[in-house]
Amino acid sequence: MTHPYFHPDTCELAEFTELVEQTTDPAKTPLAAEVRKNVPLYDMSVLRPQLEQENTRKTLMAEWANVLMSGAGVVVLKGAYADTTVLDDATEVYQQIIAREKEETGGGGDHFAASGANDRIWNSAQKLCLTAPDVFLRYFANTSIAAMSEAWLGPNYQMTAQINLVRPGGAAQQAHRDYHIGFQSADISAQYPAHVHDLSPALTLQGAVAHCDMPVESGPTKLLPFSQLYRPGYVAWRREDFRAYFETHHIQLPLSKGDAVFFNPALFHAAGANVSANIHRMANLLQVSSAFGRAMETLDRRAMCNAMYPHAQAAKNLTRSEMTAAIDACAEGYSFPTNLDRDPPVGGLAPETQAALFQRALDDGLTTEAFGAALTAMTEKQRP
Ligand SMILES: [Fe+2]
Repeated sequence: MTHPYFHPDTCELAEFTELVEQTTDPAKTPLAAEVRKNVPLYDMSVLRPQLEQENTRKTLMAEWANVLMSGAGVVVLKGAYADTTVLDDATEVYQQIIAREKEETGGGGDHFAASGANDRIWNSAQKLCLTAPDVFLRYFANTSIAAMSEAWLGPNYQMTAQINLVRPGGAAQQAHRDYHIGFQSADISAQYPAHVHDLSPALTLQGAVAHCDMPVESGPTKLLPFSQLYRPGYVAWRREDFRAYFETHHIQLPLSKGDAVFFNPALFHAAGANVSANIHRMANLLQVSSAFGRAMETLDRRAMCNAMYPHAQAAKNLTRSEMTAAIDACAEGYSFPTNLDRDPPVGGLAPETQAALFQRALDDGLTTEAFGAALTAMTEKQRP
């Protein structure tokens, strides 16, 4: 019988190393441009058109899901942003937000790093959307990010994001796993049965968008390919022997501005030390949640929809799939929980979602006022 509970004392480093000392077989990732240090790299300048057709999009998504689930556990999308001017625009907004928040609070907390050489913007998605909705629209009108989110989580995912800015001298993090179980104490983690440890990674996707070039000396994320495969990993990562192994065996890949990296939240990883002289390493950490899970952050998606709507109406240059990607990052994509007395499913099993309302309003040419009223009516119906 397999163990119903994991415990740090029963973790075996030898079992872990056997898993992580595999080698990626390039034959299993035929669409990757190359495999570097076991990590498949995808050239989105070549693959982006494939995201516009259902069958080729599905093939690519299936390959990504396989890598995240049973392969290296991490993929790099080179050139996820074809045009990086939108990243520069967003960086400028984020710099303003950092300066404003510092003034207001005297610097916020960061759950892993000492403050000083590190700045964090919590909920950078909502803050960007409400500060500069036109930039938010262009930022998330990104079919690569949308396809990757859907590849791991399925449709109707919940986009959240945090900015991490690590300045020269910024220290490295210690190896860890991520949300959900990765954010519980060792004691609490051990109380969840083993099958819940297996399910936790399917509830979130971790990603990072590089807002600047990140050579290794600037400290791009340290990763241990295949470490998501170790089932008791959530109770093992605090052990000294596992941490020591990570420090001597992790890999780092340099990133260019506009690249994105995505990994299984069960992968052992840690932000690297910034030992560069003058690189202010800015990444937008995307944390995408399953429709069925609770995200780490609460977002006022109604306010975000109201802010983005007039810009979406004016954006004649976006393709339908780019617009869908932006709407899915902005609006709630799931119908539940709701009040089924007031909000019964009409013409199906689930009531209309906020994202579907956004798309319908756009298609029907609703005014900003009418859309705002429809959003308010929807919130009213969902109220307990
Ligand atoms: Fe992390």
